[in-house]
Amino acid sequence: MRAAGEILIPEDRIAARVREMAAAIDSGTAAGATLSVLALLDGAFMFCADLIRHFKSPVHLAMVPVRSVARGGDPSRIRLPELFPVKGADLLVVEDILDTGQTLDSLSRHLRSLEPRSLRIAVLLDKPSRREVTLEPDYIGFEVPDRWVVGYGLDDGGLYRNLPYIATIGD
Ligand code: IMP
Ligand code: MG
Repeated sequence: MRAAGEILIPEDRIAARVREMAAAIDSGTAAGATLSVLALLDGAFMFCADLIRHFKSPVHLAMVPVRSVARGGDPSRIRLPELFPVKGADLLVVEDILDTGQTLDSLSRHLRSLEPRSLRIAVLLDKPSRREVTLEPDYIGFEVPDRWVVGYGLDDGGLYRNLPYIATIGD
């Protein structure tokens, strides 16, 4: 088991940034619209729970497991809940971290084919140095260096998702 190392982003900075992101998402949402929020599990569970409680608009929430492309997943085969509005809806994808971008690239192509009225992507963390595709999320919490990070939903071998802060991982 690798030990969690240095704290990169403390709890209070995350909370403040998540509030700012929620406000930005709110101001980009059409008046009177209902948001269809799609959280990608497992990583986004904590970020999404904190983010959506600040929204002013009503929310349809779907939390769906997605295996990353790097781990052999095919995000276009995502199973959305039957009653989750997508066609003609204002869709917001919530993800923990954007790394190579392969997972969100594949997923957003698939979601666009389902014809939402709008599609926005919010990621808590961005590792731009690792990007393999051109993908610009609409909302980014923090840029992080090319290090493995854990906490606030992110794991290392299934561990550390419960940490209230973002930390690097040591050996
Ligand atoms: P990608 O953008 O397709 O390369 O994959 C992003 C996914 O890789 C995220 O949803 C995470 O599950 C995982 N990931 C990438 N970097 C990290 C990290 O530093 N810590 C934990 N998970 C990570
Ligand atoms: Mg993930």
